[in-house]
Amino acid sequence: MANPEKVERLIRSDIRAIKAYMPIEPTDILSQRIQIPAEKVIKLDGNENLYGCSPRVKEALAEHDYHLYPDPEQRALRKALEKYTGIDSKYIISGSGSDELIDLILRLFIKPDDKVINCPPTFGMYPFSTDVCGGKTAKIPRKQDFSVDIEAIKKAIDKRTKVIFIASPNNPSGDITAEPDILELLKANIVVVIDEAYHEFSRMTVAPLVPNYPNLIVLRTFSKWAGLAGLRVGYGIFPANLVGHLMKIKQPYNVNVAAQIAALESLRDLPYLQSTIKAIISERERLLTMLAELGWLKVYPSQANFVLCSVLRGNAKIIHQELQRRGIFIRYFDTPELQDCLRISIGKPEHTEALIAALKELN
Ligand SMILES: Cc1ncc(COP(=O)(O)O)c(C=O)c1O
Repeated sequence: MANPEKVERLIRSDIRAIKAYMPIEPTDILSQRIQIPAEKVIKLDGNENLYGCSPRVKEALAEHDYHLYPDPEQRALRKALEKYTGIDSKYIISGSGSDELIDLILRLFIKPDDKVINCPPTFGMYPFSTDVCGGKTAKIPRKQDFSVDIEAIKKAIDKRTKVIFIASPNNPSGDITAEPDILELLKANIVVVIDEAYHEFSRMTVAPLVPNYPNLIVLRTFSKWAGLAGLRVGYGIFPANLVGHLMKIKQPYNVNVAAQIAALESLRDLPYLQSTIKAIISERERLLTMLAELGWLKVYPSQANFVLCSVLRGNAKIIHQELQRRGIFIRYFDTPELQDCLRISIGKPEHTEALIAALKELN
């Protein structure tokens, strides 16, 4: 019998040292933890879409068979995405969530000790996937107003720097990176990944630029606007010179049949989904106003399906815990770049009402 310790020592030493990513928990686990029935849990911690997916998705999924592998080239979905984005399908590749595409991009470019620029506070998967690929994260914090520090980024680029990730709108700050700033970064000989996971709530995009730039990648997802987070389906718009290499290294059947059907059906039901996006945007503005009226939160404007606020009076950690006790789950941040901050995903009007009532009780 092999020695378990010796087997463990076979694991890459850099992987042994990596801290686990902290994902959000599903509703049933949260409900068990706080001993509240699952239907009473108000889940505003994952930037999910509480309106759910298009009803057509459920019908289509019920009608389909699943005994055959999916199309490894995702032809039908890429064609539908061509119509949706206005960009030729030859630039598009779908992934098992945009998380998979983040990992795939890094696997394409990063050798041990290559550098990836990350601009915190931002989405945690960029440094996590960089670590898993053996890369080094070069941290260039955002400015006080959360805008990316273009001058500092330009100074940090050296010959080991290969990729920069910028979420726009950014998670958790909700703000956009302006196109002139992105154009400035595109002048460098590095890959610029603009993560537009929340595009449908902002309408801003640099996707039409991709065919004209050999180093611009735009990532999108069906998790947020289309309510398909559970099925894991995203896509990227990639320069022509990268598509063949990414297709070569991706798992052949990376996007499962159910996910491909759900994404296709969502694209066939845009009026329905647009109405839920509109409801979320108007609820976002209502929530922002109500939070500001409490008088003890600084709220930041948002172009996404969540809002960030910092606690001016009181303790963010305790507020987070007390809301949990009442079955309301939001995100709490206490990092060097983001202290005493709370991020709240936009739910339905009844979720806003419950949250505001609980906050009034707390502070
Ligand atoms: C900026 C950003 N990019 C990507 C993702 C992940 O999206 P997906 O569900 O498609 O993996 C998220 C999810 O929260 C996100 O905030």
